[in-house]
Amino acid sequence: MRIILCGFGVVGQSLVKLFDSRSDELYAKYGLKPRVVGVFDSKGSAVDKSGLDLYKLVEVKKKFGTVKNYSKTKNSMSGTDMLKNIEAEVLIETTASNYKDAEPGMTHITTAMKNSMHVISVNKGPLALAFPSLLELAIYNQVMFKFSGTVGGGTPILDYAKNSLSGERITSFAGILNGTTNYILTNMASGLSFEEALKDAKDKGYVEADESLDLDGLDAAAKLVILANWIMGMKVTLPDIDCSGIRKVTVKDIGKAAKKNCAIKLIASCDKELIVGPKEIPNDDPLCVNGTLNAIAFTSEHSGTQTIIGKGAGGMETASSILRDLLDIRQEIARD
Ligand SMILES: NC(=O)c1ccc[n+]([C@@H]2O[C@H](COP(=O)([O-])OP(=O)(O)OC[C@H]3O[C@@H](n4cnc5c(N)ncnc54)[C@H](OP(=O)(O)O)[C@@H]3O)[C@@H](O)[C@H]2O)c1
Repeated sequence: MRIILCGFGVVGQSLVKLFDSRSDELYAKYGLKPRVVGVFDSKGSAVDKSGLDLYKLVEVKKKFGTVKNYSKTKNSMSGTDMLKNIEAEVLIETTASNYKDAEPGMTHITTAMKNSMHVISVNKGPLALAFPSLLELAIYNQVMFKFSGTVGGGTPILDYAKNSLSGERITSFAGILNGTTNYILTNMASGLSFEEALKDAKDKGYVEADESLDLDGLDAAAKLVILANWIMGMKVTLPDIDCSGIRKVTVKDIGKAAKKNCAIKLIASCDKELIVGPKEIPNDDPLCVNGTLNAIAFTSEHSGTQTIIGKGAGGMETASSILRDLLDIRQEIARD
């Protein structure tokens, strides 16, 4: 299967390492032979129609900071040109999430769909701003659009609600969808001030380059948009979310909650309204997970409330969700 990979950061590099380390097994077990024919980052690209050497690609990126130096000619083909001119079955979009105009991911995804490529995105920006129209574009162009890694990283939250609960009517859901704010709130509950907890999270590499995406609830809101569209069939985008973050939560608020055997968590919920905001959660509620964990509770008409818990991020975890999507695409192509 020929693949074009947009972005070669933490997730992109984890993915090619996964392909490289499991190539024999992927072929023997699933008949999947991923052939990465093009990769680009913000500085340039690497192309080989017969398949790039994945080990070399990672080494080049490590040494030069860009995949451009993969070949002596230093390829500077733009991402859009690559998507228009290099033949591939699947685009994997892993550039940074941007909630202002969703670029460059939006152009990558729409160009690929219009060129009849299936798309896997872990980039939440385009989905947060244009989920309904992207789904329509995929249907119109008869391509598959997969995005398992956008919510929960490697934890299959979307698949669980869509497939394991199929036939059920999910009436509402609520969850902790951002590991960074959960880590900060957990540390504040152990006595750190907001500033100390934020610094610790930054030192550990948990905070987005633009900290506002975590702290002001935008990342959680983007995931709520994806869930609301995909699971509840709503047609909503980011401006439809009533969103507030954790900046105003004080150690005093957390102490008050603790006296009631509760913790304050940043909760994204879909009931009558779509809301992201800090909320008191009883300590014995399965949703009340600590550290960087994510958790989401789905309430359905007949099977009650079920909570799924797992790591919400991480390069390898997110790469494994891309692999799941790729296997789905491979199976659907084989079925056709
Ligand atoms: N990391 C996680 O745990 C995780 C989990 C779930 C979802 N995600 C999402 O997955 C995506 C990738 O995350 P990441 O952690 O891998 O981010 P990252 O390390 O910052 O990598 C982003 C990549 O995008 C490239 N890029 C940025 N602007 C570009 C442009 N205009 N044209 C081409 N490439 C461009 C960057 O190029 P340079 O290398 O040249 O800077 C980099 O290779 C994000 O949308 C993120 O929200 C991440």
